[in-house]
Amino acid sequence: MKYNYKDLGLVNTKEMFKKANENGYSVPAFNFNNMEQMQAIIEACAEMGSPVILQCSTGARNYMGKEVVPLLAKAAVEIARAKGSDIPVALNLDHGPDFDTIKDCIEYGFSSVMIDGSHYTFEENIAMSKEVAEYAHQFDVSVEAELGVLAGVEDDVVAEETIYTKPEEVEEFVAKSGVDSLAIAIGTSHGAHKFKPGDDPKLRLDILKEIEKKIPGFPIVLHGSSSVPQEYVEMIKKYGGELKDAIGIPDEQLRLASKSAVAKINVDTDGRLAFTAGIRKTFGDKPAEFDPRKYLGPAKELMKAYYKTKLADVFGSEGAYTKGK
Ligand code: G3H
Ligand code: 13P
Ligand code: ZN
Repeated sequence: MKYNYKDLGLVNTKEMFKKANENGYSVPAFNFNNMEQMQAIIEACAEMGSPVILQCSTGARNYMGKEVVPLLAKAAVEIARAKGSDIPVALNLDHGPDFDTIKDCIEYGFSSVMIDGSHYTFEENIAMSKEVAEYAHQFDVSVEAELGVLAGVEDDVVAEETIYTKPEEVEEFVAKSGVDSLAIAIGTSHGAHKFKPGDDPKLRLDILKEIEKKIPGFPIVLHGSSSVPQEYVEMIKKYGGELKDAIGIPDEQLRLASKSAVAKINVDTDGRLAFTAGIRKTFGDKPAEFDPRKYLGPAKELMKAYYKTKLADVFGSEGAYTKGK
C-alpha cells in the first residue's frame, strides 16, 4: 500500500452518510481537477462546517497524476484543520470503470470508490460491484455502485433517454453486491446541457420514495446534480465563451432530495462554470494579465463563494461540524 487513506487524515463515507441521513441533509461530492479547485472546495466546506467528499474522476486523476492526488487530499485535510474545523474529508473515485483502476486508487489513498456498472446488465453490474466491494472492504474503503442510467447530455452528443432505476430491483442489488451506497437515476443528468430554457425540470421524487421504502436507511447518491447557474453561463458568454443555452437541476428539487435518504449529491459542472467564468472575466477585464495567480485566484474565489451558498441552500449541511475561519 503506497498510501493508506487513514494516514492521510481521510475517512470513508460510512459515518458521514449515517449522520447525513439521520439529520436530513446530504454530503456534497465536489469534483476537482487541480489545486485551486481543491482549495475552493475545502475552504468552502471547512468555513461552513460541512462534511465533504473530494471527488476525482479517472480523467482528473490522469490529468493531475496519481502521485499528486493523495497529497492534494492530505493537504485539503490540513487546510480544514488549520482553519479549526473538524469536518470529515473523504476522497472518492468517480465513475470507476473497472476493478484494476479501483485497486490502484485504493493503493494510492482513496477512502471511497465508485464502480460504475450501470451500462452493463443487472447481473453483470451485481458481479462487478460485488467483486469491488469484497476487495475494498478489506481496507475499510467504502463502495458506491449505480443502478439505472443517467441521460448524458454533453457536448454535441444527442441525449440518450434516462433509464430510471427500478425500485423493485434495488433490494436484490444491494443485498447481492454488498455495496455501501447506491447511485440512482431519477432524472438528473451529467454536463452543462441538461434541459432547455423554458423546460420545467422535475426529478422523479416518487421513484426515490419507492426506493427508500425498499431499502430503508440505505444511503442513496445522486449524480448529475449541477444547477447550471445562469449567472456564470452569462459571464462566460459575455467574456467570449461559447455555451449552449441550457438550465440544470433546480435547487428546490435537490433540497427536497437532500432531506430524504439521499446522502450524497455530485456536483462538477457548476464548479467548472464558476471557475471558467472567473478566468474569463479576468482575461476580459485585464487583457495584459499573464500571472496565473491573478486569474486562477479569482476563479477559485468565485467557485468557493458559489459552493458556500450551495451548502446552505441545497445540501443543508452547513454547521453539521465545527465551522472554520
Ligand atoms: O460525471 C462525470 C464528472 O463530471 C467527471 O467528468 O470525467 O470529465 O472528469 P470528467
Ligand atoms: P454534473 O455534471 O451535473 O455536475 O454531475 C457531476 C457528476 O455526477 C459527477 O459524477
Ligand atoms: Zn456522475
